[in-house]
Amino acid sequence: MKIDILTLFPSMFDGIINETILKRARKSGKVKISVHNLRDWSKDKHNKVDDRPYGGGPGMVLQSQPVFNAIAEILGCSVASLTKNKNKIKKKARIVFLTPQGKKLEQKVVKRLEKHKHLILICGHYEGIDERVRKHLVTDEVSIGDYVLTCGEIPAMVLIDAVVRLIPGVLGHKDSNKLESFSENLLEYPHYTRPADFCGLKVPKELLSGNHKKIEKWRRAQSIKRTKQRRPELLMSKNY
Ligand code: ADE
Repeated sequence: MKIDILTLFPSMFDGIINETILKRARKSGKVKISVHNLRDWSKDKHNKVDDRPYGGGPGMVLQSQPVFNAIAEILGCSVASLTKNKNKIKKKARIVFLTPQGKKLEQKVVKRLEKHKHLILICGHYEGIDERVRKHLVTDEVSIGDYVLTCGEIPAMVLIDAVVRLIPGVLGHKDSNKLESFSENLLEYPHYTRPADFCGLKVPKELLSGNHKKIEKWRRAQSIKRTKQRRPELLMSKNY
């Protein structure tokens, strides 16, 4: 998978892409992440990429030109071809705009995005982005929740982390993301490690039994119980 990030603050990504799973996934060649500074495509002598909104009002709006130019260069086509045919763009890459107005990022959205070979993420800023970018370029608008952050960089990091860990071979144990919360519309079961008795607080006996069938049964029952208590709506789509 290839992920291109368009941002005004490239250094914000230094930490996340150079640590833990994302670092390993990049080193092993499972994902190529490129962070681009949108100002590199500005045609303004002060590298400006925003302007005042038509019709007045507060704040500044991210202009179309640097975004169209950046994406044309990343996709190796002309700006003119981008303005003409959105379906053609869809075949080459998913262009994701991070915005609180987008579709809520849930595990099923993450799974769908992981199926694509190329993601281009646009991190918004200011009051918003010129609507022509959304209409003619963006294929997916994604929100990480019903709250407003100052920028799209943190949501982009959340999305990248969630997607990359699903790429086959990225996580150590080949099944480790099958057992996680949400993988089957269930929350994960509780975990324990040594000691078996900590100041009188004991590990459930089923986990110490050494009987794999029994352990599996206990874990599944715990998953269902936990989901019922905390996220009952997740159970609506299946019968347990
Ligand atoms: N930009 C600002 N807030 C956001 C959110 N909640 N999700 C995605 N992008 C955003």
